[in-house]
Amino acid sequence: MKRLQGRRAVVTGGAQGIGRAIAERLAAEGATVAVIDREQAAAAAVFGDADGHIGLGCDVSDSASVDAAMAEVAHRLGGIDILVCNAGIGRGPDDGSEQMYAGAAERAAQTARGEAPTAHPDQSIHMSDAGWLAVMGVNINGAFYCCRAALRDMVARNAAGSIVLIASTSAASGEGPIHYVTSKAAIVGLARGLAREVASRNIRVNAVHPGPTDTPIMANVPDSVRADLARAVPLGRMAQPEEVAAAVAFLASDDASFVTGSVVAANGGSYFC
Ligand SMILES: NC(=O)c1ccc[n+]([C@@H]2O[C@H](COP(=O)([O-])OP(=O)(O)OC[C@H]3O[C@@H](n4cnc5c(N)ncnc54)[C@H](O)[C@@H]3O)[C@@H](O)[C@H]2O)c1
Repeated sequence: MKRLQGRRAVVTGGAQGIGRAIAERLAAEGATVAVIDREQAAAAAVFGDADGHIGLGCDVSDSASVDAAMAEVAHRLGGIDILVCNAGIGRGPDDGSEQMYAGAAERAAQTARGEAPTAHPDQSIHMSDAGWLAVMGVNINGAFYCCRAALRDMVARNAAGSIVLIASTSAASGEGPIHYVTSKAAIVGLARGLAREVASRNIRVNAVHPGPTDTPIMANVPDSVRADLARAVPLGRMAQPEEVAAAVAFLASDDASFVTGSVVAANGGSYFC
């Protein structure tokens, strides 16, 4: 008997990267998986028509879109036992990222030349409202909307469940774009608060902190910064998405039956949570 046999799982942002690896790992462990992603065709392509898995288009930052997708999942799969909130972005419009990365690079160059550095990695002073809200809308509002919809299904069925929220080592270290760091720290609060709220219903809620992981989101990060990120990991490299997925599968399963409100770091020792 596979560890997740008979479970129905939703993975948001499951069309690529860490989310896709999670979807594939949960399916390999026996779950029937619904991939939901703003890229509908890519979501549908993850499993095609195989074994009852489904792929749906959904913008997690839009609560109506989330409610519609989750209702369709509950209808087609018969319920939701596992939710993995993985969809996340690191950039928004006019969010000061260019200025931050340029300032950091110039400061490092000045220091390397033996000069007293005058450049600064400023981001917040350049941040537009739209840039801030875009990241918050997907990363924290989206996670909440998905949790709310999944909990409504679990509570209506009086069923146990497991929710796993993908945060980031950035939440603990403070490193990274300011809206991203803030949203990921909020994810930890959401995991802990919900864990307390729904424990009496035997619904567990945990978070995972990936460290730098080799996925398409990293394409937004300058090459020199990527190299620095990998070098700074005590295990000496970025994670592969499958290594994060393994931690998620554990938390989703009954092997973690007494684990709730926890943060599991899958970050190569970058930061201890
Ligand atoms: N890659 C890393 O180094 C790293 C490190 C720490 C945390 N994380 C987190 O892991 C998660 C996955 O990251 P990744 O590297 O696989 O990213 P990615 O960009 O490769 O994939 C993200 C997926 O989410 C989907 N998505 C984005 N916005 C969406 C929306 N509004 N609604 C629905 N789907 C949406 C995208 O279409 C994509 O399929 C994110 O939450 C990210 O913050 C990643």
